[in-house]
Amino acid sequence: MECNTVSLINTKPDKVNLRLKKLSADDVHDIYNMLQSMPKDENGLVNKANGLSYEDFKTWLAAKQKESEQTCLVDGWKVPSTTYWLYADTFPVGFGNLRHFLTETLSNAGGHIGYGIAPQYRGKGYGKELLRLLLIEAKKNWFGKSSYHNTLR
Ligand SMILES: CC(C)(COP(=O)(O)OP(=O)(O)OC[C@H]1O[C@@H](n2cnc3c(N)ncnc32)[C@H](O)[C@@H]1OP(=O)(O)O)[C@@H](O)C(=O)NCCC(=O)NCCS
Repeated sequence: MECNTVSLINTKPDKVNLRLKKLSADDVHDIYNMLQSMPKDENGLVNKANGLSYEDFKTWLAAKQKESEQTCLVDGWKVPSTTYWLYADTFPVGFGNLRHFLTETLSNAGGHIGYGIAPQYRGKGYGKELLRLLLIEAKKNWFGKSSYHNTLR
């Protein structure tokens, strides 16, 4: 495990199999550990799982999965969003959140996509690949289908 992690840190994205995996309530320790290695809030990217116990992380995951399944605003302002993990081979190296549509407020500040790469994997091209894959998902699932906004922001 340790050896594979070290070798991946020195590996460029074109040498590994990169794929997005949708957040699930069944996610386990690999995701938990990655989220602990990422800051709580960095450049506006919020990581609410940082600092949670493993038990609270499982509760948080279940709530996030529900958020992805909603189709309209909750509490008058929360839009549905889906979180994806970026896996490089068998290791999660980052995550992205896609908002399914925007309110006027989110349209002015927030936008459709938030994404981040765990600090130890940065500067090798994973961020660029993550954004590319997220844009494909956004266009496939939501872009142009919303009655609220039809432009990615
Ligand atoms: C931004 C972030 C995702 C980049 O990940 P990464 O794996 O290091 O990015 P890459 O190696 O693919 O680099 C992609 C390009 O972005 C540039 N870049 C990377 N981090 C940057 C930063 N903080 N500011 C400006 N440019 C940056 C790189 O120089 C590179 O440019 P190039 O293609 O011209 O060489 C990562 O630094 C991160 O998670 N930051 C914290 C969260 C964040 O800022 N998210 C974005 C807003 S929601």
